[in-house]
Amino acid sequence: MPKPNTIFFCNSCGNEFVKWAGQCPACHEWNTLTEATPFLKTTKTKTGSSVTIKPAETFTVSSALNSQTSHTFSSNISEVDRVLGPGITRGGVYLLAGQPGIGKSTLLTQLAIKASLPVFYICSEENPAQVATRISRLTEKGESSSGTKIKTDHIQLLNSSVVENIIESIRQNPNSVFIIDSIQSVGTAINPTTPGSPSQIRDSANLLIQSAKEHNTPLIIVGHVTKDGDIAGPKMLEHMVDAVLELSGDRQHLLRLLRSIKNRFGPTDETGIFRMEGSGLTEVKDPGSLLLEDRVESAPGSCLTMIMEGTRPLTIEVQALVVHSPLPVPRRVAKGISPNRLQLICAILSKHLNLPLATKDVFVNVTGGLDVKDPNADLGIALAIISSTKDKPLPDSTVCFGELGLLGEIRKVGFSEKMAKEAKSLGYKNTFSPFTHKNIKSIKFI
Ligand code: TYD
Ligand code: MG
Repeated sequence: MPKPNTIFFCNSCGNEFVKWAGQCPACHEWNTLTEATPFLKTTKTKTGSSVTIKPAETFTVSSALNSQTSHTFSSNISEVDRVLGPGITRGGVYLLAGQPGIGKSTLLTQLAIKASLPVFYICSEENPAQVATRISRLTEKGESSSGTKIKTDHIQLLNSSVVENIIESIRQNPNSVFIIDSIQSVGTAINPTTPGSPSQIRDSANLLIQSAKEHNTPLIIVGHVTKDGDIAGPKMLEHMVDAVLELSGDRQHLLRLLRSIKNRFGPTDETGIFRMEGSGLTEVKDPGSLLLEDRVESAPGSCLTMIMEGTRPLTIEVQALVVHSPLPVPRRVAKGISPNRLQLICAILSKHLNLPLATKDVFVNVTGGLDVKDPNADLGIALAIISSTKDKPLPDSTVCFGELGLLGEIRKVGFSEKMAKEAKSLGYKNTFSPFTHKNIKSIKFI
């Protein structure tokens, strides 16, 4: 059967179809199918010349290793190296995703300033003057504190959003780092759709990745996220790149976390911790007390909780407010934890401690704008709710961690021993954890 000359591409889910339809058969969104050319399905290039058919280049393991002089190098930002594992790998393609305004461009500008290789910064979203202003602002602050002039001559700002031109620059300067800010604002001539459409992102990324691999050049791509927090564009983009990094945090707060969701070169369980300040992102070496600066001591409803961020324990404050509800179905409002988790913990407390939550509104907040996924926070959430319900504070100098089971049991999860050690070294007098209590009923603090 002959291959179709055009395909229909869903802008929402990225699936391809031979026929147009008003509703996407895969994701059921309306009016999302747009016409596109099938990518690399023919042996003809854009100019019409045929690709020469020949056996692909082959390497033995040792010759492949020898072909790459110093395979990885440091980014010179230790929190970034911590997340990447060994550092930046030559020929590696990295996707940095995050909410608008979270600091992606700031982080990459700092990376460019500190890089030991020449850097090509593709300013497709901003113009070179804007990026240059940011570079000079970030270096000025560093200069005034260190007294020495910070060099920026190794950074070239490319004013282009055409993929073919960027690829030509990669070909001419393979021994450099390429930063594309962002993939949503570049486009290739082989795809007629506008930059940012899923098929355009797919085709542009495909060409750029091929070029980076061919010339063994590290490539860092910025990716936007949708309002649901997913990386915008086809899911395929995440499969195509070697590592997916996510910069997260709350724009109203200073804390920024850099996590790797996928990493072909190293572990994915590390987190880089930064603070967004006037001088850009500064590394946080000791996150222990970072989130507790404005804490009110001995307040009912407040509980210090330990969670793991990557392989480092982090102490956070969980606050709960339990008040009489005028509503037939009382509210459960969670900020920084999942609402389902809060529902579950309320149910456990009602069942096992007879806590009268059926007529109460429960509000829970994690301070510092953190989004906590670690189940070690369960016990802290439960104790904060108990403390607010009874209007009694927890004993001074108390910290807790542990997952709550449906039977009210306190479970060890993740690096429990590491957290117990950390709690001791931070000098807390009381620790409530799976090591000290078997279930929630046995904790008597009031
Ligand atoms: P930016 O890196 O442009 O975000 P993104 O590329 O993810 O959209 O950062 C935008 C925010 O960061 C902006 O609101 C201002 C703040 N910021 C600082 O607080 N200090 C700084 O030194 C810089 C460069 C930015
Ligand atoms: Mg930006």
